[in-house]
Amino acid sequence: MSARDLREELQHALHDEYTIERELPRGGMSRVFVAMERALHRHVVIKVLSPELAASLSAERFKREITWAARLQHPHIVPLLSAGLAGKHLFYTMPLVDGESLRDRMNRERPMAFADIARITEDVAGALAYAHEEGVVHRDIKPENIMFFHGRAVVLDFGIGKALLDSTTAETEMLRITQAGMSLGTPMYVAPEQARGDAELDHRADLYALGVVAYELITGHPPFTGKQPAAIFEAHAKKVPEPIKLRRPDTPSSLATIVMRCLEKQPDDRPRTGADIVRALAPASAAPVARGSTVGGRAGWQLPAWLPWVVAGITSVVAVVLAILYAQAR
Ligand SMILES: Nc1ncnc2c1ncn2[C@@H]1O[C@H](COP(=O)(O)OP(=O)(O)OP(=O)(O)O)[C@@H](O)[C@H]1O
Ligand SMILES: [Mg+2]
Repeated sequence: MSARDLREELQHALHDEYTIERELPRGGMSRVFVAMERALHRHVVIKVLSPELAASLSAERFKREITWAARLQHPHIVPLLSAGLAGKHLFYTMPLVDGESLRDRMNRERPMAFADIARITEDVAGALAYAHEEGVVHRDIKPENIMFFHGRAVVLDFGIGKALLDSTTAETEMLRITQAGMSLGTPMYVAPEQARGDAELDHRADLYALGVVAYELITGHPPFTGKQPAAIFEAHAKKVPEPIKLRRPDTPSSLATIVMRCLEKQPDDRPRTGADIVRALAPASAAPVARGSTVGGRAGWQLPAWLPWVVAGITSVVAVVLAILYAQAR
């Protein structure tokens, strides 16, 4: 379906509630629109599930999963606002996050300060710890699904998207990524058990994906890259990632160790929970934020240390000149 057709169909189906204003650049297979919610006069994002995903789902399954996702309330999770069927398209809405994605920030800020990396990882690990406790696994943690809101990382698309696929085996992944328009970014964050096609995936696949994101933030590249998705899957399943300290030797040990643990092939060898990651990161994230680093897409700034002295000097000179002028005028 062409871009215009879907937009018109959606607008027609939802015209009482939303005015669609624009489409956001396409990432995965779904389509994402910014719309004005008429009743509350606020901007929201409407995500329309891809026909491929919608076809593999029953309306009941969608409703069940979306109900779980809708329960999540956490400072580092973008909440679900509503969900439904517009014509024949399954959709859900969420707040419009007025900030950049982690992918954008990674492209802009290289290398990123360790304290910032630790804080971002900590924010996402906190969100995962909470959602996992609530029984929701994300299954699509990647820089495109992490955004910045008031300087802190927030996770998008929780418990929907890939989580709705009955099985995310290597074969279904391959099918997804070879479909036109699907970004090749996806295989970069796939856990070994997912790459091997294991039927049972649990929350530790999210911890692995977070490890890949953190590894990329630290070193500038994910542990396994390449043009062929099959080769990336194979590497996730079998290859040992190069130690972080070899790629960026000044990485604080506490940060490097926990990220490498997230990347263990066996889920049992990874941290048990997101909360374990948060605890392990405490020393690294407590470090002062590097000068010149940026928060939430806005350049961080500080008064230079010499400024008070210059102001005091100028004030004194002005006072002396005024005193002389005053004395002469009398
Ligand atoms: N709530 C939101 N607020 C602001 N921007 C958003 C929001 N949701 C998505 N986006 C932007 O729209 C782009 C496309 O999102 P989409 O979720 O379709 O792609 P993706 O994250 O690459 O893939 P996936 O379907 O696997 O999540 C994202 O890169 C993101 O920057
Ligand atoms: Mg997304």
